[in-house]
Amino acid sequence: MAPLRVAIVGTGNIARIHAESLRDLGDEVRLVGAVDVDPDRLAAFGDRYDVPARHRDLASLLEQERPDLVHLCTPPGSHHPLALACLQAGSTVLVEKPPTLSLAELDDLVEAERKHDAWFATVFQHRFGTGALRLRALIDAGVLGRPLVAICHTTWFRSQAYFDVEWRGRWDTEGGGPTMGHGIHQMDLLCAILGDWTEVSAIARRQARRIQTEDVSMAHVSFANGAVASVVNSLLSIREESYLRFDFERATVEVTHLYGYGDDDWRITPAPEYADEVLAAWRAGAAGVRSAHRAQFAEVVRALRAGTPPPVTSAESRRTMQLIAGVYASAFTRSPVRAAELTADSPFYRRMEGTGARW
Ligand SMILES: NC(=O)c1ccc[n+]([C@@H]2O[C@H](COP(=O)([O-])OP(=O)(O)OC[C@H]3O[C@@H](n4cnc5c(N)ncnc54)[C@H](O)[C@@H]3O)[C@@H](O)[C@H]2O)c1
Repeated sequence: MAPLRVAIVGTGNIARIHAESLRDLGDEVRLVGAVDVDPDRLAAFGDRYDVPARHRDLASLLEQERPDLVHLCTPPGSHHPLALACLQAGSTVLVEKPPTLSLAELDDLVEAERKHDAWFATVFQHRFGTGALRLRALIDAGVLGRPLVAICHTTWFRSQAYFDVEWRGRWDTEGGGPTMGHGIHQMDLLCAILGDWTEVSAIARRQARRIQTEDVSMAHVSFANGAVASVVNSLLSIREESYLRFDFERATVEVTHLYGYGDDDWRITPAPEYADEVLAAWRAGAAGVRSAHRAQFAEVVRALRAGTPPPVTSAESRRTMQLIAGVYASAFTRSPVRAAELTADSPFYRRMEGTGARW
């Protein structure tokens, strides 16, 4: 089979991980082109990764290179217009998180997916490590019983200097603070494991950084399956950690890491009466794959070859974006918010800060 023709748009920090992960996929893919508005970055990236075609704008790349798949690695504020251009040109687009600045922008892309022969997918690489896949398989097999309680912590640290980059810490370019930009990874995995959420109560604060957005948020979330979760998103936490904990009827399952986990970062503690069954199933599960871009890209290629929507699909990422909108809506209106309330007439549908941040 001919390699998939892939292009990268935005050649900054995360684009390097994309180029290296694509290289690891060997003959499955060919990096045919790159785009950046900054000519120096584009040239350095193009030389380093041996990219044949280099363009200063997406339109010329789409027209001349006709990629099957475009990886969007630009700042969040540009995701919607660039992804729309890809879909309209018939190229599938894999966009870095957060997929868009708002639910309204995301729904516009869902509409474009329907009209054009191409898909819209989001990078949420932590769904693809074998720890998460194994947990999902045990849930589906009924080994763990009902999920009851969950904890989802993104306690990271970013100094004031981190926000010197002009698109960071602003509603109009980043769409939010740690809830939108950092905790989104852990909240996405939380939703991938627990499914649809129904109600959220949250606070958001700007405690220490000179930015427009929050630097910490805390939320209690109810899920349709009856589970409840406590979520913390912080950029003020000097001992940094990404931590997810799921208490099921028959076992507690935890993962502790920072920017990516391996199998050893997972821990399972069974209830004594189910220990043999639970541990046997856990040990027999998938193993050996870290949560990283490469793991997701392999699944994206597999899906495109099979003619199916690549992960993480727009429907799946929408649920996570809706939870983020719910956290802000609850924090800024100071009341619980149900998922069903976040319709097109909610101010939090069009902008994550909705009625305005109250600092
Ligand atoms: N999945 C992850 O773990 C992860 C980690 C870091 C960043 N990200 C995400 O990746 C995205 C990029 O982050 P980054 O840190 O690499 O940013 P960056 O600022 O280092 O790089 C962005 C690049 O995009 C270019 N650019 C901006 N607008 C453009 C346009 N309209 N057309 C073409 N090029 C354009 C810039 O010149 C720059 O080179 C963000 O959405 C961020 O949230 C994801």
